Amino acid sequence: MRDSPEQAGDPAYPNAGIFDFAARAARSVASAQSALRLAATKEQRILRRFSLREACGYLGIERATLDIMLRHPDAPTPVAPDSNAPTQFMQDPTLSASDLMTLRAIADSANPAEAPARPFWRGADQPPVTICFSSQKGGSGKSIAASNLAIAAALSYGMRVAVIDADPQATASLYFATDRMAVANAEAATFVRFMGVDGPKDPLVDHDGLALDQFWQATPWPGLRLLPGGAEIQEADIALHFLAARGELREHPIHRILRDALGRWIKAHPATVRADDLRDATGRLDRTALAQGMSETVDLIVIDCAPSLSISQLNAVVASDMLVVPQTMRGFDLSTLEIYLGSLAAYGDVLRTLDRGTAFAPLPSYILPTIVSSQSDTDMRHVAELYVADPEIVCPVFYGRSEAVANAAEDYMSIYEYAPPKSRRTSASAFLANANAVAEAVLSRAFADFPIRGYANAFIRERLPEGMPLWTREV
Ligand SMILES: Nc1ncnc2c1ncn2[C@@H]1O[C@H](COP(=O)(O)OP(=O)(O)OP(=O)(O)O)[C@@H](O)[C@H]1O
Ligand SMILES: [Mg+2]
Repeated sequence: MRDSPEQAGDPAYPNAGIFDFAARAARSVASAQSALRLAATKEQRILRRFSLREACGYLGIERATLDIMLRHPDAPTPVAPDSNAPTQFMQDPTLSASDLMTLRAIADSANPAEAPARPFWRGADQPPVTICFSSQKGGSGKSIAASNLAIAAALSYGMRVAVIDADPQATASLYFATDRMAVANAEAATFVRFMGVDGPKDPLVDHDGLALDQFWQATPWPGLRLLPGGAEIQEADIALHFLAARGELREHPIHRILRDALGRWIKAHPATVRADDLRDATGRLDRTALAQGMSETVDLIVIDCAPSLSISQLNAVVASDMLVVPQTMRGFDLSTLEIYLGSLAAYGDVLRTLDRGTAFAPLPSYILPTIVSSQSDTDMRHVAELYVADPEIVCPVFYGRSEAVANAAEDYMSIYEYAPPKSRRTSASAFLANANAVAEAVLSRAFADFPIRGYANAFIRERLPEGMPLWTREV
């Protein structure tokens, strides 16, 4: 905390050295190589195409069924990507993510072979489910788990998904950002402005349900929208403090502002189109219904939190129906987990007394072990100990440590977008299977009648000791 000699004694520049360093280092980091790779990914993100084999995996159907579906008069035509496309499938015919959505829309619900491809959309009387990824520990895999879950829901089940990046670091946003989006810059409005919190001097803005729709940004993944993270989230707690001090939070108590705003947005954006409305009486695709269904609402809201439990982050937890706590399994990490859960429980006690009208989180919540090393006895022992202590609080379908994560992250891509070179295909497809298993494990507890494909059970059979109960009913 020592001032430089010139500035010592100048009250306008306490610790100028630190701030000069921050400004200078920020400029260098921005110009470094990794920033250039991010720029390249942002430009090309939309170009990821899927081989017909991958398409079958995401649609949950056999190749013979896909071939029949591709003969439908409204089916997309698989094409070989042009030679500039950044994928490895240069000669093979491929489909885009929106082609997959078109195939879902024309899939015949009466045909058992095609039925798994149908979009898993909520009905008019079912609310969307909000799942929050939060933990105190930094770098525990929250953003990867949240982003993978969101993409898996959209790509594998055709769900309409909203991602709220509640972290000033904006890590999850970078998995979705393109150069056409305002992400992690001054124009990007975050969930803080969605809540109506503009600044410490401004009043709380009570955006109505229609106005709230303007905040979402479309991403290249069909049906997947984003409220990006950004620096203003850091300032939210200060603004909230002043709003409360001025007595402006009577209608929306300080912990419930996001929940109330999401409630208004959901109410103004009901689910009117059903998956069955996407084909007309003759079985042809109704493109208007598809466009409306894809944009009118969401089925799932995924929130990626910052590694802390501030008032703005508490808003994310309170807004959710289910909490997933991604957590590495080392001894020190587990003790931070205990502190985090203890604080959350203490907040919960206060909230339940203060806020009797609100039904908090009706769904089960889980600790999600992450970056678990299969080589480390300690990691597996800690997972086992947690599970034995209380099998209902830990998700036995966890994230193993994978080198594919680092490879994909070099290009700022999730595993669903990353097209690995040949030498890395084995590790990439193993991690993809892991991500699919975790997504199925979580979504199957979040939604009644979720279409089970057996990914979670396959994980349990492969990775866990014999006798471990399966997670979903057998298919
Ligand atoms: N399964 C995995 N195998 C190997 N590395 C992983 C795995 N999951 C995450 N990582 C690495 O761990 C780091 C943190 O991941 P991530 O950003 O998802 O964590 P986080 O909890 O969101 O972090 P923060 O607390 O800063 O928000 C990243 O560098 C990522 O590449
Ligand atoms: Mg993160």
